[in-house]
Amino acid sequence: MIFRPATFADVEHIHKLLNYYAHEGLMLPRSRNSIYENLRDYVLAVENNRLLGCGALHFVWDRFAEVRSVAVEPSLKKTGIGRQIVQHLEKEGIERGVTMFFTLTYQPGFFAKCDYIETDKDKLPQKVWKECVYCPQYPYCNEIAFIKTTVDYVPSKMQF
Ligand SMILES: CC(C)(COP(=O)(O)OP(=O)(O)OC[C@H]1O[C@@H](n2cnc3c(N)ncnc32)[C@H](O)[C@@H]1OP(=O)(O)O)[C@@H](O)C(=O)NCCC(=O)NCCS
Repeated sequence: MIFRPATFADVEHIHKLLNYYAHEGLMLPRSRNSIYENLRDYVLAVENNRLLGCGALHFVWDRFAEVRSVAVEPSLKKTGIGRQIVQHLEKEGIERGVTMFFTLTYQPGFFAKCDYIETDKDKLPQKVWKECVYCPQYPYCNEIAFIKTTVDYVPSKMQF
């Protein structure tokens, strides 16, 4: 298995995987438009050209980024791929200066295992919510917020 950035050729596969889980009610749907516009955010776990899983890191503010759209091929769940995708996204984020990661999820147990800490959604900066109007759940958000900070994180530097 390798991890690599997504390309245009991957969009249909990402779209299919994310929306499979969206139909199951496990994550929010993503349009092709959203995947194309944010394609550089995505990292894929791939083996023999087959998509095993994906995830995205979206920069939101100064040193502050969202881990989103983490999904693993249904037959391969609970084999460690999801955690490796998150670790890969964090590594890339840290290399680029991110000191705080957050996620909004229906899978609190998984992110707790990835050392994320549950937080009050109201503590996240308002900018986080700018895409919420496109969400089918809006305004009745029932996702759970989690954060993870690096050793370099300095609260006073976070100017939201
Ligand atoms: C959630 C998801 C990404 C996890 O990926 P995965 O490859 O199955 O998870 P991993 O095998 O890396 O699991 C890492 C740890 O988290 C645990 N875990 C995984 N999914 C979990 C869940 N839904 N609830 C509680 N714990 C979970 C695993 O048991 C493992 O624990 P361990 O270290 O004690 O063995 C995957 O199940 C998935 O694609 N789910 C559907 C899409 C989704 O809900 N995405 C959520 C992100 S928005």
